[in-house]
Amino acid sequence: MSDFLIAAYPWMKALHIISVVAWMAGLLYLPRLFVYHAEAEIGSDKAETFKVMERRLLRGIMAPAVILVVLFGAMLAATPGVVDWHQGWIWVKLALVAGLIVFHHLLAYWHKSFAADAVPHTARFFRVVNELPTIALIAIVVLVVVKPF
Ligand code: HEM
Repeated sequence: MSDFLIAAYPWMKALHIISVVAWMAGLLYLPRLFVYHAEAEIGSDKAETFKVMERRLLRGIMAPAVILVVLFGAMLAATPGVVDWHQGWIWVKLALVAGLIVFHHLLAYWHKSFAADAVPHTARFFRVVNELPTIALIAIVVLVVVKPF
């Protein structure tokens, strides 16, 4: 198993980054859709279109992507010599990833509310919420590439 993981390492890393990009696209775009949805009139054509766009993004892209991110991430972490568990960056990264997974679930929860013709929060709220995955993404990339501690 170790030999396989070592040989597959560059491929696992490529697949990890591809899945990360797909997941992040959803985490960044869905709150933006919520901003427009919160401003649309309930029952209007526009609001109905947003419901479909949100559902497809969540189920078609974000749900499979998060599973692949964690799967390939775990394979990288299990590859001998890749992570020094005495260093701090990996633990802070994992905490931020846990935060992004909670954020993903919150988005799914708010989508359910929009799908039932409610408006869970104001457009302004979703504009602010939209910044959170951006901050997490910047921090995670610096942690994995620079490994500052
Ligand atoms: C449970 C989830 C995750 C685990 C276990 C995990 C683990 C890992 C590991 C072990 C590496 C290899 C580090 C190295 O080669 O030095 C890696 C690389 C990377 N991870 Fe993750 N990761 C996860 C989620 C994420 C997320 C959510 C992002 C971005 C938002 C991310 C971004 C990256 C990037 C950009 C690299 C490539 C770094 C490089 O070029 O060396 N990972 N990940």
